[in-house]
Amino acid sequence: MKKILKIVSSVNGTASKSTKLADSIIEQLQATFPGSTVTTKDLAKEEYAHFNTAHLKAFRGVGDASEAASENADRQSDEAIKAVEAADVIVIGVPIYNFHIPSTLKSWLDHVVRNGRTFSYATGKPEGLLKDKKVYIAMTSGGVYSEGPAKQMDFAPSYLRSLLGFLGLTDVQIVRAEGCDVPGLSETALEKGLQTLVINN
Ligand SMILES: Cc1cc2nc3c(=O)[nH]c(=O)nc-3n(C[C@H](O)[C@H](O)[C@H](O)COP(=O)(O)O)c2cc1C
Repeated sequence: MKKILKIVSSVNGTASKSTKLADSIIEQLQATFPGSTVTTKDLAKEEYAHFNTAHLKAFRGVGDASEAASENADRQSDEAIKAVEAADVIVIGVPIYNFHIPSTLKSWLDHVVRNGRTFSYATGKPEGLLKDKKVYIAMTSGGVYSEGPAKQMDFAPSYLRSLLGFLGLTDVQIVRAEGCDVPGLSETALEKGLQTLVINN
């Protein structure tokens, strides 16, 4: 039995392909680990503020934001980190918007990345403090980036692996459905992506 945290970052609601792919991954997780629970955070419905002066003061103790503003910034970050800490498995739906991850997901990640909470330089070297969690990324894109002429713009997978790895989340599997908006590819994109899914302990 696993505690699954599902992160939705599409703005497409029930028509979202990345959410559909994430749900298919979760279905297979639930079949493999009966009794698993799912907690969902929909970043299109509950937005995390862009990193601002209040966050700088709350997270790093510098800047000139008011106490109230920085306390509020702290609260949202605490809540995001608690949700991540409570999960055994994190499934993140990631549509590619304008060549990268949705800005709502970037903001959520900016709340999760916190010195002394999710990473530390206490030993002089960076250490990720989130341990023993599996992350599945359900990534959908209109075009194809993993190969061909657009490969040089394939920023999102390496960004996510680098950032999550910095936090200690090194067990990351990216399940990609590419060509979701290309006739001839779109019809089978989700299914082909799902075929690359490997579930292990
Ligand atoms: C605002 C916007 C920007 C997009 N930018 C890109 C892009 O840069 N590259 C790409 O391949 N597809 C792009 N797409 C297409 C989406 O990645 C694709 O339709 C994806 O399946 C959407 O996932 P969703 O239904 O979960 O939102 C964009 C779509 C939207 C709405």
